[in-house]
Amino acid sequence: MRFEPSRGLEGELIAPADKSISHRAALLGAMAPYPVHIRNYLHAADTDSTLDAIRALGALVEVRPGEVVVRGTGLREAREPAGPIDVGNAGTLLRLLPGWLAAQEGRTFTLDGDDSIRRRPVDRVAEPLTLMGAALEATDGRFAPLQVRGARLHSISYELPVASAQIKSCVLLAALAADGASTVGEPERSRDHTERMLMRAGASIHRNGRHVTITNADELELEDLTVPGDPSSAAFLIAAGVLVPGSRLLLRDVGVNWTRTGFLRIARRMQGIVLGDLEDESGELVAHEPTSDIDVAAGALEGTFVGPEEVPLAIDELPLVALLGCFAEGETVVRGAQELRLKESDRIATVVDGLRGLGAEIEATEDGFAVIGTGGLRGGSIDSHGDHRLAMLGAVAGLASREGVEVRGMEAADVSYPGFLEDLAALAG
Ligand code: S3P
Repeated sequence: MRFEPSRGLEGELIAPADKSISHRAALLGAMAPYPVHIRNYLHAADTDSTLDAIRALGALVEVRPGEVVVRGTGLREAREPAGPIDVGNAGTLLRLLPGWLAAQEGRTFTLDGDDSIRRRPVDRVAEPLTLMGAALEATDGRFAPLQVRGARLHSISYELPVASAQIKSCVLLAALAADGASTVGEPERSRDHTERMLMRAGASIHRNGRHVTITNADELELEDLTVPGDPSSAAFLIAAGVLVPGSRLLLRDVGVNWTRTGFLRIARRMQGIVLGDLEDESGELVAHEPTSDIDVAAGALEGTFVGPEEVPLAIDELPLVALLGCFAEGETVVRGAQELRLKESDRIATVVDGLRGLGAEIEATEDGFAVIGTGGLRGGSIDSHGDHRLAMLGAVAGLASREGVEVRGMEAADVSYPGFLEDLAALAG
């Protein structure tokens, strides 16, 4: 698909629903004993995989206009399905679901997915769950298919080897059905949607700096939830608005939980015009997910430095930081982002090769990249490598480029943002 240089983007849109929060809402719905009404659930390939997975585990799922109703099985009553659970392309499902399954005493589950999922490590969740008493077997000790044999779990005190909300969430879900209070520590703060939703569901959960403590529970009390707009999906439109001269956009109902707004802060630091009521960093855990309208306008950008503590707060938007860097004055450097190599593609390699093919001056490092701004991008062609965020990056690069960009594998965007092309077309007129 080709994306030609665009005139300024203009207009107003409601951001698509949050993928991370939709996954969690469906999983907690399946773990609850009463019906849970989830308003504004994201209907995309990844989150459809989660609905299919919880159906296979015995939850009843009703998709209604504007909401999904999940009638769950309860914390310890997931049904053993006849065959493997297909997680599709969804890394979040692959990492979170074993936390719940590990607590299903005497039942065995197998998780598998597409070729990309089979390259994404699961030893990082197998380790804490094994310490808690479950039996897990990964292919070559590291990859899906992953077999989980549920057991009576012990509580745990666990320091995460990397700042990963997926591993943290997995341990927290397992800890809910363990035998006492568990604590998880993270090297840097990562997104805290699981903690907020568990708090809302009545779990006893507390934060102390980089540590979260949760006490086991008999059941979750969750009635209804509204999923906010996804700041990671909105980030592609925001980047387009910042980069294409003459743009003026208004994005409504974007989630602004501070653990997700790293990219907005980075874009502001680069002198992008990104206005909105962002949540301030909070030490205390809160149960709600704040939203804000975000106003965007194009401006002259400056390079910036993104270090390890900021990486988890902008992890899925770092490819866009590289793109902004191509248009900025001076150098833009990202360090401490080696986790990018383990995403839907090796996002250090695919972003650096992809943008270089469009004319960027960019170098990969082991844990990030360095871009020298050259005032723009020539254009050319880029391959998505089946990675949704790379496909959308190519599209935005095309609108902002001098000669246009052809994206091979644009359909990958359906994983998180099926309406992306329509939304972009509406804004580009
Ligand atoms: C996610 C956490 C991040 C992120 C992923 C979604 C989540 O992964 O990259 O797209 O929903 O918890 P890690 O926590 O493994 O960094």
